[in-house]
Amino acid sequence: MVKPRRKGTQAARKNTEKEAVTCGLHHLSDDDDIPTLRSNLLSWYDVNKRDLPWRRQLKNTDVNQRAYAVWVSEMMLQQTQVATVIDYYNRWMEKWPTVQKLATASLEEVNEMWSGLGYYSRGRRLHEGAQKVVTELDGQMPSTAASLLKELPGVGRYTAGAIASIAYNQVTGVVDGNVIRVLSRLRVIGAESTSPQVMEVMWSLADRLADPERPGDFNQAMMELGATVCTPKNPNCGGCPVRGLCTAYQQVEIEKKKSANKLEKMLLKKMETPCGVQDIEDVVEGCCLCLPKEESLDSSLGVMNYPRKAKKKPPREEKTAVAIISCTEGSETKFLIVQRPETGLLAGLWEFPSVQLGSDSQSETRKSLIDSYLKETLGLTFEDVEKRTHVGEVVHIFSHIHQTYIVETFDVEHDGQDGGTGDKEAPPCRWVTRSELQGAALSTAMRKVFKAYEASVSASKHPATVNSTGSKVSNKRKRKSSSDSSDKKKQMALDAFFKPRSVKTKA
Ligand code: ADE
Repeated sequence: MVKPRRKGTQAARKNTEKEAVTCGLHHLSDDDDIPTLRSNLLSWYDVNKRDLPWRRQLKNTDVNQRAYAVWVSEMMLQQTQVATVIDYYNRWMEKWPTVQKLATASLEEVNEMWSGLGYYSRGRRLHEGAQKVVTELDGQMPSTAASLLKELPGVGRYTAGAIASIAYNQVTGVVDGNVIRVLSRLRVIGAESTSPQVMEVMWSLADRLADPERPGDFNQAMMELGATVCTPKNPNCGGCPVRGLCTAYQQVEIEKKKSANKLEKMLLKKMETPCGVQDIEDVVEGCCLCLPKEESLDSSLGVMNYPRKAKKKPPREEKTAVAIISCTEGSETKFLIVQRPETGLLAGLWEFPSVQLGSDSQSETRKSLIDSYLKETLGLTFEDVEKRTHVGEVVHIFSHIHQTYIVETFDVEHDGQDGGTGDKEAPPCRWVTRSELQGAALSTAMRKVFKAYEASVSASKHPATVNSTGSKVSNKRKRKSSSDSSDKKKQMALDAFFKPRSVKTKA
């Protein structure tokens, strides 16, 4: 249970690092709250932790190997759900079981392995880091949070803390989205959780809480609690091992009971004020952790009032024309893919030839842009496009971009050899079979585009539409008549065939 603070004693705390003023309500006592929190959480974790492949590696007596396993898993787990990561992690560790093995891989192999996981710079950084460990650090992973942060590309404060505590037992905290949620609710931190000031408080709290005997387990337990119990939606407060210390939970309980008990009365009053503080001596103007004065709790949300996040900027809208160019020889169909630049979004990944459209994405403009890209950049000459078909639109949401792909297919008569202008500026391109495409370093968005294409091909092969009499009519017949007619001629005239010229391949 949350204990009432003695009048005035916890009135205001100064976070000495930042001179930030905070209310007593956000405080956890060293002699009582913190030992209880550690003990309850660790006992719960020992019984309830998920059996995850990277956790099995923690029994390894080779500390370098433990650090590598944690590093890989933590890089994969950034922005990605555990369920998705498991398979990627297992395949990765099977292929590159040690940091030395990873250092020998090519970037192309790494991108292929990472394909579909998103945020591709994570894989690149792991690879770059492995090469650094082998060539500059004598094959030894850095062993403290500070040295991990300094030496390894892509390792930030969170990943450094996770590797140091989980693999090396260094007593240091971690703060990720799960930990922010748990701490915000435990201590009713209603100020915007992403602000630098609140983040600093979160880090100093996490460092203070880390269990001196089992820091790695403690940190994993905090994250596990956030991932499985103290979830963003529908938290399971009934199954929470630390609800007795959770001020947000107390607020909700009191809201429900409306009892006249002294503690409850005090907390009830606290809920009415932005700081949740009753005694005038406890009120600290400008507390950097409290809910801002102009905002109020939504009682229907319960503990989900915490954490408060800054309103996200809406993702910017972008449209991109995509050309799926295929040629069929016998029973084998090949597709033309091109490599993206080595920097920027989806760096180094492969995609179907694409052109980002400006504000004018009208059909004619779009076609003329993609046609000139195919001709001028890829060096393809329109001569014998057998068929050009509009597939439709595919939407993919990147973290900051709402991307709409407008997809067309071009069936071409071509020997499927590599294409390109020979021009150094042109991106590398290659023809791949369906199965090579599966293994290629393609982004999730492009896999979606390909799925839409496959669905449209399948629909055109097995058509079944209902005519005005209600009976099924095969589209084959319908298409035959239209493709026999002027439509086909029109397409032929519009879109002549591409003829890839000289070759420029990378893979
Ligand atoms: N999320 C990221 N890393 C984690 C870990 N080691 N345990 C639980 N959840 C996590």
